[in-house]
Amino acid sequence: MAIDKGQFRHVLGHFAAGVTVITTRGADGAPYGLTATAFTSVSLEPPLILVCVDKKSESHPHFSSGVFAVNFLGAHQEHLSQHFAKSGGDKFGQMEYRTGATGAPLLAGTLGYLECRTRHVYEGGDHTIFVGEVVEADVSDVEPLLYFRGGYRRVT
Ligand SMILES: Cc1cc2nc3c(=O)[nH]c(=O)nc-3n(C[C@H](O)[C@H](O)[C@H](O)COP(=O)(O)O)c2cc1C
Repeated sequence: MAIDKGQFRHVLGHFAAGVTVITTRGADGAPYGLTATAFTSVSLEPPLILVCVDKKSESHPHFSSGVFAVNFLGAHQEHLSQHFAKSGGDKFGQMEYRTGATGAPLLAGTLGYLECRTRHVYEGGDHTIFVGEVVEADVSDVEPLLYFRGGYRRVT
């Protein structure tokens, strides 16, 4: 028997997650990105992480460029989460960011980032699972932005 869809979402919302913006540089040379909590570490040797991207998102086709970055948002960056959770359009016009070693955009003022080259791509239902090998990473000392029970939270 399949689980009720609403109950599934409700329970998933009770897993406290850090908020990220996953960015890429499309084959057209433009920057793309979306807010995501579906991120996890995978392997230390080699250094692998994964992200899950909705197949219906505008950004999805651009991840086939083979590079992406995971930007960990800081507690002060809820507006960036809301901005990148809106679908489509030029999300980088007014954005402060730099281009990383892979070409993927790295947002300014974040808690940290991981820059990746895509090593594996898997089917994940209505999402695609991108496994990336981390080629560069760094952190700062700002506090994290969290998402829990359908709302933004902070470590107190
Ligand atoms: C807190 C939060 C977490 C999200 N997590 C994910 C995620 O892990 N994967 C995903 O594909 N979309 C996720 N989304 C939804 C996307 O950010 C949203 O669909 C966005 O509009 C996609 O932008 P695009 O269509 O321009 O690519 C999340 C949204 C929010 C607010």
